[in-house]
Amino acid sequence: MNDCLPDIDGVEIAPLLEQCGSPLFIVSEKTLRENVRRLRRAFAARWPRVRHGWSYKTNYLGAICNILHQEGSWAEVVSEFEYRKARANGVPGSRIIFNGPWKPAGILEQAVREGAIIHLDHLDELHALEQIAGKLGKQTPVGIRLNFDTGYTDSQTRFGFNIESGAAGDAVQRIAASRWLKLTGLHSHIGTFVLDVRAYAAQMRIMAGFMEEVERDTGCTIEYLDIGGGFASSNVRQGLSLPPGQVMPDFEQYAEAICGALTEATRGRSAAGKPLPVLVLETGRAIVDDAETLVATVVGGKQLPDGRRAAILDAGVNILFTALWYNHEVKPLRPPDGIAGDTVLYGPLCMNMDVVRASIMLPPLHVGESLAIRPVGAYNNTHWMQFGQLRPAVVMVTQSGRVEVLRAAEQLNDVSGLEEMPDALRQPFPQGLPE
Ligand SMILES: Cc1ncc(COP(=O)(O)O)c(C=O)c1O
Repeated sequence: MNDCLPDIDGVEIAPLLEQCGSPLFIVSEKTLRENVRRLRRAFAARWPRVRHGWSYKTNYLGAICNILHQEGSWAEVVSEFEYRKARANGVPGSRIIFNGPWKPAGILEQAVREGAIIHLDHLDELHALEQIAGKLGKQTPVGIRLNFDTGYTDSQTRFGFNIESGAAGDAVQRIAASRWLKLTGLHSHIGTFVLDVRAYAAQMRIMAGFMEEVERDTGCTIEYLDIGGGFASSNVRQGLSLPPGQVMPDFEQYAEAICGALTEATRGRSAAGKPLPVLVLETGRAIVDDAETLVATVVGGKQLPDGRRAAILDAGVNILFTALWYNHEVKPLRPPDGIAGDTVLYGPLCMNMDVVRASIMLPPLHVGESLAIRPVGAYNNTHWMQFGQLRPAVVMVTQSGRVEVLRAAEQLNDVSGLEEMPDALRQPFPQGLPE
């Protein structure tokens, strides 16, 4: 039954919807754990020292984070909020990789005290960190974020220090001259949904080359190379004509390219008595995207003037932000009935851009019928917005077949409870106003 999706890991969707309401996000614990284990296996088979930091921004629902922490992943966070979230999940500071362009002084100090892995983004942050380390009298290990041209991806020059311009070399010298800072790691992230594994081989060669250079010039020892995230999920990016199975590398292929380039670039190290660096991955999308499905229900239909069918769903870009860039798979819960036709799927927002799929062949859709949309695990439960609609519940089908609520559906007070009403405005229609 490839043309419909009645269940998630054997748990029927239709009764779940009756219980929890529509729309509904459903996480598969089994897929999540399997994905991160496959990632680990692919890399552990090719490099002796590998670490994975779970990219909180990809999906920071507490249960999802803690499943990945149970699997051995550290936390990779990019803001004060995410740092606090990781600590609240029970992650010790020493297992947090702290990235991002803004780390306010208070949380930076906490990160230093707690021994977090801090990656500097710019010189002002370098100065701030040096002052904090000096105030605490604590020699602080630090990494820097690099950006450079791989020849395959757009250089993200707004993050970190650029190698080609010399800014990265200057930052390294600045750290080497500091009494309180000690350079121990290099980080970069070359993009997301990167389909060409040669981009990673190039990234690895550039980072390893830079490592040799800074060790030679400053006498420091680089303990780890962190290559960020970016591996593709099985989603279909708009504008790509081939199906995901044909263009998407698997973890083995990414690992082969990355570890092959790293092995080559570090060949001389053991002879020189230098340790091999730990390879750090911050894979987000490729682990969680396929582990989550959104179920939405048809609330109305119409025929457009150009003859196409249109269905209005109770879920739109408010909760499915990735619909702006990806053509998600959409399947009815039951075997389809009727002849498939070109259909537009709209969301419920009173906004022209609220389109879930601009064109998809589907059987006639009726009000009350539900559709499974996937993969949706990456970037939706973090980017979703409260615009026009309250956010729905997220549940998880556990490995033992139970259903657990991970986040309850929002109520009006969850959104407006923080508002204050000035006394003079408590009466919306004061008596005596003309009709
Ligand atoms: C620094 C950093 N690491 C990791 C990731 C996760 O990337 P992905 O979800 O593409 O694996 C991101 C995403 O933008 C990022 O900015």
